[in-house]
Amino acid sequence: MTVESVAAVPTENSSSASTIVVSPLSGYTGAEISGVDLSENLSDEDVAAIRQALLEWKVVFFRDQTIGHAEQIAFARRFGRVTPAHPYEDNPPEGFPEIFPIDSRRYNQQYGRKRTSYDSSWHTDVTALINPPSFSILRADILPPFGGDTTWTNLVAAYQNLPSELRDFVDRLDAEHTFENRAAQGSSRAAAFENKPLRTFHPVVRVHPETGERALFVSPGFTRRTKNLRNLTPRLSSHILEALWEEATRTEYTVRFRWQPGSVAFWDNRATAHLAIADAGHLGYDRVLYRVTIEGDIPEGVDGRRSESLEGDPFYGS
Ligand SMILES: [Fe+2]
Repeated sequence: MTVESVAAVPTENSSSASTIVVSPLSGYTGAEISGVDLSENLSDEDVAAIRQALLEWKVVFFRDQTIGHAEQIAFARRFGRVTPAHPYEDNPPEGFPEIFPIDSRRYNQQYGRKRTSYDSSWHTDVTALINPPSFSILRADILPPFGGDTTWTNLVAAYQNLPSELRDFVDRLDAEHTFENRAAQGSSRAAAFENKPLRTFHPVVRVHPETGERALFVSPGFTRRTKNLRNLTPRLSSHILEALWEEATRTEYTVRFRWQPGSVAFWDNRATAHLAIADAGHLGYDRVLYRVTIEGDIPEGVDGRRSESLEGDPFYGS
């Protein structure tokens, strides 16, 4: 049995016209999808097959795609409502308010130093929101000749492999998520962080709305500013979060992706965290990618409790 035939396990799509092939890249996380051209209007069968692979492998990758902003947004719309670029993005590409540029050429101004990514720590996208995106789609345009990879981790696997006693404990916890303001003082982004704060208590374990799987929904990017677990002391919160971050990012749950121009990564933001590896900025290379995000729902914990907004409004798409 080939790897492809294992991965392509198809569902109701197996007898359909879908020609996509799904090739896993690691034991827990990530698969490459071939046999599809994202510049075309995909069949419902192809969309269903991609969604199935995404739910199973948490992040999927496409190579050698020739799409621009409009095609990327059109592709995203097949999977849900597309949000504006980002709660704090004030200068998206002309005519494409849904596109969030991850562009090293802009970061000197915003952060006061050369960077190749918006956030180079483990995070799940925009979890300071009460309804973080369900999916993110990132397309590579300009890349350094080496370096600048991205790594994803599978938060469902991280949860499932915890000892049962620890699972029972963390099931009941809520963590505060907020942005850490690392923007350059006086920049428009720093002002936006302060003037429109976003803070939310999310369950540390969320139940995936489509698969029913439980995921360890914490990552340092949005919980390290306050290190606040509801009803626990700062010291205990800090120790527990440090331990959970470590479990969530164990190497065996991860996949590392080497970008090429035309590469597209598509991830389930409800079941993954990711890390842009900061190994190219110091060399002076540019790195430009474009992200779109799909509207998400309000997370739900194992006992049915919902996330609670402390500051800020939901982020809706269209
Ligand atoms: Fe991200």
